[in-house]
Amino acid sequence: MREQRTEDRGRAVRLKAEVETLAASDAPDEEVLGQVVRLVHDEHPLWAWSGIYLLVDGTLVVGPFAGSEEPPEHSRIEVGEGVCGTAVAEQRNQIVEDVREIDNYLACSLSTRSELVVLIRENGRIVGQFDIDSDERAAFTREDESLLEELADLISGRVASLADLLQRPPHLRR
Ligand code: SME
Repeated sequence: MREQRTEDRGRAVRLKAEVETLAASDAPDEEVLGQVVRLVHDEHPLWAWSGIYLLVDGTLVVGPFAGSEEPPEHSRIEVGEGVCGTAVAEQRNQIVEDVREIDNYLACSLSTRSELVVLIRENGRIVGQFDIDSDERAAFTREDESLLEELADLISGRVASLADLLQRPPHLRR
């Protein structure tokens, strides 16, 4: 048990260092966030789908994701809708142990059993969120939430800048 915790801490330290390096690189926002999502996803065998939603003009819009080839069915989510929109409306992270027990749930995959949403804030303003799905019941812990909060702080500038870009009309996105 103690060895497991030491191993987890070691993994978390390495992941944070990798995300910090990516965030400071010259690569474009979308590429950086895509690599962050891939890193986070690959570290956790029980995480079936991992993604970032961006808050664009008051609507959550799916950004980089890992765990599926196609974009999710709910690629745009209004504030207040589903687990993702509830996190923004209530301004707090969501850990759902069993998605079958909540009414306000938007299914992206029928096999999903639990879900974790961690808000990403830049200067106090919500600019997006991590959304993670698992096919296992109660797959997420407070430690997972804390780690994603730390990663959120490292990438919040990148998320804000990608959300700002998507807010512009397509011909002005450069
Ligand atoms: N389940 C989410 C929708 C997003 S998909 O899981 C990728 C929700 O209820 O908001």
